Amino acid sequence: MGRKEKEDQDKKYLYKPSAIDLFCGCGGLTVGLKKAGFRVLGAVDIDPLSVKTYRANHREVRVWEIDICDLAPSDLAAALGLEKGRLDLLAGCPPCQGFSTMRNLNGALLIEDPRNDLLFEFLRFVEALLPRAVMMENVPGLAGDERFAAFCNRMKEVGYIGHHRILNAAEYGVPQRRYRLVYLAGFGAEIPFVDPAQRMKTVRDAIGGLPKAGESGDPVHDIPERRTQKVMELIRRIPKNGGSRTDLPDEYQLECHRRCNGFKDVYGRMAWEDVAPTITSGCFNPSKGRFLHPEEDRAITMREAALLQGFPRRYKFPTTDNKSAVALMIGNALPPPFIKAHAVSIKKFLSSYGNVKS
Ligand SMILES: C[S@@+](CC[C@H](N)C(=O)[O-])C[C@H]1O[C@@H](n2cnc3c(N)ncnc32)[C@H](O)[C@@H]1O
Repeated sequence: MGRKEKEDQDKKYLYKPSAIDLFCGCGGLTVGLKKAGFRVLGAVDIDPLSVKTYRANHREVRVWEIDICDLAPSDLAAALGLEKGRLDLLAGCPPCQGFSTMRNLNGALLIEDPRNDLLFEFLRFVEALLPRAVMMENVPGLAGDERFAAFCNRMKEVGYIGHHRILNAAEYGVPQRRYRLVYLAGFGAEIPFVDPAQRMKTVRDAIGGLPKAGESGDPVHDIPERRTQKVMELIRRIPKNGGSRTDLPDEYQLECHRRCNGFKDVYGRMAWEDVAPTITSGCFNPSKGRFLHPEEDRAITMREAALLQGFPRRYKFPTTDNKSAVALMIGNALPPPFIKAHAVSIKKFLSSYGNVKS
């Protein structure tokens, strides 16, 4: 047999590892998994707009639009033809607002949030499906929470060797500062964390080449914005390429900023050669952070927000004037290049199980 034939035959026997995405949102995690070479079989989310967006981009994936608490893992497994222990990767990002350090004052005040229990819903699926690998992502505040300790202990009892790190997505090919907790676990073996990328991507790399907002023909880049004259005046005066409202003389400060000296980033511009700040659900509103375009007198568009999260250029989002609904999905998403980096490491781990492509 010639080399080419041998390679083709090898390819036939190698298969793409399978994955399920819990709390899939608009699909950031799924994009990262697919880019690493996973085959995403199923996904679950409760939010209709997120599911609509997810389906528009990932037609081949079976999606459950349901409260995960009402979904039996056995039903999901049966629908996907999965036997216990045969799934390669269970991945997901249980909603995390209750763990956020912004909300719980750096741990000083524990805010009860029923969504925190969704971590145990994720665990319920791990126990029922017994995947070979598990990846769970969350806000850094989860690390110090007793529920995370309980989660890790249970994973150990079930047979997983898990560990977690708090990582900056900017070090993994995402043009954005975004600290997240990543938990990786392998059944019976540890999955190593991948090393950071050599070079950081910048705001210019991500959005520098886009056509003019409002005239691009891309509805996600053309959603109009409305601001008062006073705010427009302030925006125009913020120095280009990284300037802040604190650069302006006192007479140009808004009354509310004079009273409160905190939140120095609000009405700030991004800088071309730096990474963006964390893209949040408020990223279309310059009063919520450093969300002004480096040069133009406007906030970033939803297309720019998606690109700064590392979504592909043509990723579909709903065409609606309701920016906050789109921004919520984008701000909640996991940056695909960040997920891809970890998923590649998981794939290498899985190749030790046999004929998974690495
Ligand atoms: C952090 S976001 C997930 C982001 C997603 N992994 C991505 O990369 O785009 C959390 C998601 O959990 C979903 N969610 C919240 N409560 C849920 C529940 N009870 N059952 C299923 N999904 C839920 C939300 O609708 C939201 O899309």
